[in-house]
Amino acid sequence: MNVQRQSIIALVPAAGSGTRLMAGVDKAFFELEGKPLLFWTLRALERVPEIDEIIPAVKAERIAQTLDMARLGGLKKIRRIARGGKERQDSVSNALALVPAQAGIVLIHDAARPFAAAAFISRLIAALEPPFDGVIPGIMPRDTIKEVASSDNGQFVLSTPDRSRLVAVQTPQVFRCQAIKAAYELASKEGFYSTDDSALIEAAGGKVRVVPGEPGNIKLTTPEDIVTAKEFFRSAWAGPLGTGTLG
Ligand code: CTP
Ligand code: MG
Repeated sequence: MNVQRQSIIALVPAAGSGTRLMAGVDKAFFELEGKPLLFWTLRALERVPEIDEIIPAVKAERIAQTLDMARLGGLKKIRRIARGGKERQDSVSNALALVPAQAGIVLIHDAARPFAAAAFISRLIAALEPPFDGVIPGIMPRDTIKEVASSDNGQFVLSTPDRSRLVAVQTPQVFRCQAIKAAYELASKEGFYSTDDSALIEAAGGKVRVVPGEPGNIKLTTPEDIVTAKEFFRSAWAGPLGTGTLG
């Protein structure tokens, strides 16, 4: 009997440009508290005991910088870096190609979410049990969500889905290695693209479990999010993030 635990590998897509952040620098390399956003995100993953290796995907011209950042910052779980691709899915696909087929679990986490707490990530990993192929964190929307379409006169409403059946989805998302590899292969064959990894599992007929997300696990997207992130860092010294990322 094989009693050795199968390895858990975290992939971190970090090759975007951050167009909506409008900070004049690639988002993952935007500095907060004197370090690139990517550093804080990688450190959050480094602190999760179950995670064995972390593979960031960055633009080719950022690879050397990322390796230096990991070494100088004492991030010991980074041994390889993937090249980013045109879309987020291409970046994840390049990182996934570096994951050995015999790995057990693959976790995928956006560089743009630096505030995922270690206990939260461990909880997601623990929730991956049969019959599920993946686990995603979801938050029930506070606002009513409309399905809309565009016309010459602007947007108009198509429908109003029942809010109690909707969740807003975060990362990290946690997958069985074989399932996510197969889902990415199928998506590539069919030319299917999504900004959400679990959507590829769904398209392949897999089963995705939803567990509660965390409101503090924000994705830095617009300039207002920089203000919020700075506030999180300031208050972190007093400890409200508790078991969280910063400290
Ligand atoms: N990402 C990536 N490769 C791409 C595009 C995005 O690895 N070709 C990563 C981003 O670096 C980010 C994550 O995917 O960590 C989520 O994407 P998003 O928040 O959209 O970041 P950006 O694409 O950088 O931002 P924007 O869409 O505003 O340009
Ligand atoms: Mg983007």
